[in-house]
Amino acid sequence: MQLLAPDLVGIKMAANALLEGDLVAFPTETVYGLGALATSDRAVGRVFAAKQRPASNPLIAHVADRNAAAVFAQFDPRAAKLAEAFWPGPLTLVLPLKLHTAVSRLVTPGLGTIAVRVPSHPAAQALLRAVELPVAAPSANRSGSISATCADHVVSSLGENVDYIVEGGPCAMGLESTVVDLSDDAQPAMLLRPGSIPTDDIERLVGVVARPDDRTPIRSPGMLARHYAPATPLRIDASDVRPQEALLAFGRAPLETGGPMLNLSERGDVGEAAANLYGMMRALDAENVSAIAVMPIPVEGLGEAINDRLRRASVPMPEADAA
Ligand code: TXA
Ligand code: MG
Repeated sequence: MQLLAPDLVGIKMAANALLEGDLVAFPTETVYGLGALATSDRAVGRVFAAKQRPASNPLIAHVADRNAAAVFAQFDPRAAKLAEAFWPGPLTLVLPLKLHTAVSRLVTPGLGTIAVRVPSHPAAQALLRAVELPVAAPSANRSGSISATCADHVVSSLGENVDYIVEGGPCAMGLESTVVDLSDDAQPAMLLRPGSIPTDDIERLVGVVARPDDRTPIRSPGMLARHYAPATPLRIDASDVRPQEALLAFGRAPLETGGPMLNLSERGDVGEAAANLYGMMRALDAENVSAIAVMPIPVEGLGEAINDRLRRASVPMPEADAA
């Protein structure tokens, strides 16, 4: 694994590596992505192996702009409106996949849809412009565990399974993109994953966005219960800290504790909490504690996505994997 600077030379090397079929982790404004050339079965196959990700869980195709997305995805008027408003930026659209595209069938196994995203991070933009082909990139972490918000996290999560890492510092937003399904123009937009764009901002443009409930068939494996999880059990909405627990606090009045404690945002700002969430979860996971108690986080704005991640991170490990 080799670290690359996000300068002209580094980006050129990263682009060439992608075109050769190598795996290149790169920064986005949300989290680091583990990139592979989306038109190469071999490269995309390596992403699933590196992450130990089930082949049934589709990947997001990253491109530099909407024109590049329109080569393989179909935009209805709602999709055009959202792309216009939020791209480049942390919005992923699930759209009908055009027929006869060069995109590997491993990116979106048999779904007839494809997730597309145009990241705004300057290094991601430069890389995508240099490659001139879509780059499939899931978050750069082991499947089911915490996403990487800096290059160190990529190294500790994936190590030698990555060929290159473009080092772009910590991610500004720290939570994954919002995923909206617009693949059926006869259906209302469906929120597949709350994320870095508050759902309210999307609803202002395309009307009410449906939230999946328990009766919705799983359309997005990221919706599976346990995900984004540290190895240490997580206890949410805590109103006390028990012996042997670490505290992940929020706001001006953290709970009393003599143990390890980090505060997501002392001033009670959900944006700051989103940016700190994964790094602090990793840091407390490294403490020798029996559990991480997390104080309640308000659900407004980005709080919806933060609470979604905390809820999934708190789902107990299945017995078989608990060892
Ligand atoms: O912020 C992000 O979106 C980051 C950065 C790297 O761009 N990427 C990311 O990718 O979070 P990943 O693979 O960790 O999560 C993508 C989510 C998964 O829940 C996946 O199941 C869903 O998007 N997804 C991808 N393609 C889909 C499709 N065709 N239909 C439905 N869901 C899809
Ligand atoms: Mg992920």
